[in-house]
Amino acid sequence: MDLTVDGLTVEYTSAGYVVLALDNLSFRANSGELVLLLGPSGSGKTTLLSCLAAILKPTRGTISFGETAVTGLTGKALTEYRRSTVGIVFQSFNLVPSLTALENVDSPLRAGGVSAKLARERAASLLEQVGLSDRAHHRPGGLSGGQQQRVAIARALGNDPPLLLADEPTAHLDYSQVEIVLRLLRSLAAPGRVVVVSTHDERIVPLADRVIELTGELPTGETKKRKLKADEVLFEEGTRGTLVYIVDSGQIEITRPAPGGGEQVLATYGPKEYFGELAPLLGFPRAGTARAVKNSTVTGLTVAEFRQMVGSAKIATLLGKAGTSKGRSNGAARRTPRKADARKSRGSRPRG
Ligand SMILES: Nc1ncnc2c1ncn2[C@@H]1O[C@H](COP(=O)(O)OP(=O)(O)OP(=O)(O)O)[C@@H](O)[C@H]1O
Ligand SMILES: [Mg+2]
Repeated sequence: MDLTVDGLTVEYTSAGYVVLALDNLSFRANSGELVLLLGPSGSGKTTLLSCLAAILKPTRGTISFGETAVTGLTGKALTEYRRSTVGIVFQSFNLVPSLTALENVDSPLRAGGVSAKLARERAASLLEQVGLSDRAHHRPGGLSGGQQQRVAIARALGNDPPLLLADEPTAHLDYSQVEIVLRLLRSLAAPGRVVVVSTHDERIVPLADRVIELTGELPTGETKKRKLKADEVLFEEGTRGTLVYIVDSGQIEITRPAPGGGEQVLATYGPKEYFGELAPLLGFPRAGTARAVKNSTVTGLTVAEFRQMVGSAKIATLLGKAGTSKGRSNGAARRTPRKADARKSRGSRPRG
């Protein structure tokens, strides 16, 4: 059973903003492969796993697994897919504290209609498979993190799912345990099964057959140094932003559609002033469109570079303002790292 993801796009709408969590992602994985989803926090790993598990419907794009068109499933077929095709392992194990390891593994089987005796036998053999036969009667509180995660893996294997999904399964483990859990996941990626594991830990890469990198940096055409002609747009309102910009020369204005039609200029920035910091700092989409008023040059800085330039205290202030003033203008915001506030601000302070 092969896995095919084609043009997968997920947009979340929250507080009036559209967050593009996945943008036109495509990949294939073959039966027997261990696929690693590698990316920093917020890059869409959980979102992708939720789509693979058919818990979340993508905005666009398709997923197919073997003969199943996952993104088209409804009703009984959807329930059946979730129940018997997919097994899920969570970062926080999600074991029931009052049940023993064995009971944690056999209870979902019994809930699914397997007889008590068969469920118990199956659970015992799964615990053996993950190397925990001698811990079967311990409760989660009496197990190490790595052992708990192995119980969670055994539980996810209950229905022998051909698609096993694990969301940062090693995030809460120390390194000696990480290795055991990874070797287990590696061994489970055998013919007839695809294992998909999300992580932001690059050390896991050598174990994978395939690495899908989710950078969180979506193609908005951003480059470090940009020359803009008069009227040229640097970024559009609503797009994802990863860079903060400094004006080298010329002038940039931030605009937004005006309520009554036309455009409203939120602010203009000249040489040495910076703009567009809140989208990359907070993961917001750009709150306005940035356009060159005249021929201009700008330099894009990553968040790390920007932090180094202005200092962490300044970042905290900026974020504090973003949180409390809801992006509204307050004259105190100093935008130039070196000289005093030279900004000719018109209207409200943009959050882009
Ligand atoms: N229910 C939601 N509503 C709005 N935005 C969401 C929702 N869920 C996730 N997002 C946003 O979508 C993006 C991707 O989130 P996701 O949880 O998939 O990332 P992740 O890679 O799993 O991150 P982490 O490593 O922190 O778990 C983030 O910008 C996040 O803020
Ligand atoms: Mg996540």
